[in-house]
Amino acid sequence: MKILNHWILLAVLCFMVLQAEAQPQTTDLIPAPVEYTVRSGSVSSDKMANLHQKVRISTKALLRHLEGRKLTDWQLKSAYWLEIGKKGVKIEAADEEGVFYARQTLKMMASLDNSVSCCTILDWPRFRYRGVMLDESRHFQGKDFVKKQLEMMALLKMNRFHFHLVDNPGWRVQIDAYPRLTKLTAWRPQAFFWDWEKNAIGGPFVEEGTPEAYGGYYTKQDIADILAFADERHIEVIPEIEMPGHNYETRAAYPELACSLPNGGKDPWELCPGKESTFEFLEKVLLEVFDMFPSQYIHIGGDEARKNNWKICPDCQARMKAEGLKSVEELQSYMIKRMERFAHEHGKRIIGWDEILQGGLAPDATVMSWHGVEAGKQAVREGHDVIFTPTHYYYLDYHQDPAQFRPVGRLVSLEKVYSFEPMAEGISEANAHHVLGVQGNLWTEHVQDAWHAEMMLYPRVFAIAETGWSPAEKKDWTDFELRASLLSAIARKWGYTVYPAKTINNEQLIMNE
Ligand code: ACM
Ligand code: ZN
Repeated sequence: MKILNHWILLAVLCFMVLQAEAQPQTTDLIPAPVEYTVRSGSVSSDKMANLHQKVRISTKALLRHLEGRKLTDWQLKSAYWLEIGKKGVKIEAADEEGVFYARQTLKMMASLDNSVSCCTILDWPRFRYRGVMLDESRHFQGKDFVKKQLEMMALLKMNRFHFHLVDNPGWRVQIDAYPRLTKLTAWRPQAFFWDWEKNAIGGPFVEEGTPEAYGGYYTKQDIADILAFADERHIEVIPEIEMPGHNYETRAAYPELACSLPNGGKDPWELCPGKESTFEFLEKVLLEVFDMFPSQYIHIGGDEARKNNWKICPDCQARMKAEGLKSVEELQSYMIKRMERFAHEHGKRIIGWDEILQGGLAPDATVMSWHGVEAGKQAVREGHDVIFTPTHYYYLDYHQDPAQFRPVGRLVSLEKVYSFEPMAEGISEANAHHVLGVQGNLWTEHVQDAWHAEMMLYPRVFAIAETGWSPAEKKDWTDFELRASLLSAIARKWGYTVYPAKTINNEQLIMNE
């Protein structure tokens, strides 16, 4: 009897140990992984880099860990299984991409704490598009800044960099066929956007080489460097070439692209979709852009064209008559559809801001839903892919705290960013695959330098990364706020400017400049 008691006690103890071993836990990681299970023991963080890594790329091995759970092909490509033991690390994944993400997890774990618990992690992304957009036109950041942000994006398992390269206050990419875009309209006398655009229309440009001129642009070699850096980090770079609005700078360089009206018409930004020469220009520009960027996507802008010029321009009116277009919205749609056909001829697909819904959406276009979620929902209903980047949640030019430096726009606090749910109500299960994912947009009208730009990005980009990667049921604001503070401290050590995640503990914003 006594012996039996001992056996029972031992069995209970064993059961308890096994239970403790298998308990799912939470980590300090951002984004939170799908499954994290603590094992006994730990490894000191400074030893992590030297631990032996056994890497196996095998779909079969990964599927064994998934135990019947169904992942899409793109999820499988990014998925990984990771085991951290005292003597070494094992990584199993179906693709190099999964191995890369496992290593980002290791890097973050070793950075966040002095020791890392032995554990296993099974992980894959919720959405395929996890992006950041950077406006290079209003404030030109430059190559080193871009690479630094790509590094942080990679750590956060983000995989799309939307490069907003051209807009009213500056053209930022070399185009050999149209040299005035960079010899003239990449340069302006005033550095700060609002000093330049005093009258809400746009200021002057100056020739390259003018003393004290502000500006810059990416040469083709610069772009190749950035792309190589991004590619090593499994980040796709999607260039944006704006049309038909937001082209004040293009018209300054090549005034003949405006409507046939005095000074090109009252609206200062629009290209003339009536003229064949406008399409010739756009196609030549895009051919060079296609040569530079391997992404399957070209973002063609499409936002905020005022369209008043088109109502009275003889070329636009002639085009509308010839094509049977009943409104200027349909004229815009004609232009976008025509550019989509051109993109398709060159193996590319278009993305546009949600105004491309006006006048009828191009058949294969992906919509970036920025006014809110309604446009995105409509596009999904019509069978189109959508990326959610709603102003009131994901516009990173808006302030995160009324006490911050130069607070503009609405309050878009870290908590507000974190609260966004991309599967908007009304998106059916059958259409869910059309929601590609999420993106934060840093517009730089108000940004004065790199310190300021990073302060606007972080920690809010952490929240977007988690929404893009982690399962919805894993999201927990209280827990995230703590994790964001931890990662913020590490990011600061690495030289990033990060706005305090928790303002209540009087953390000080560290000035890195
Ligand atoms: C936009 O904010 N105009 C896309
Ligand atoms: Zn016109």
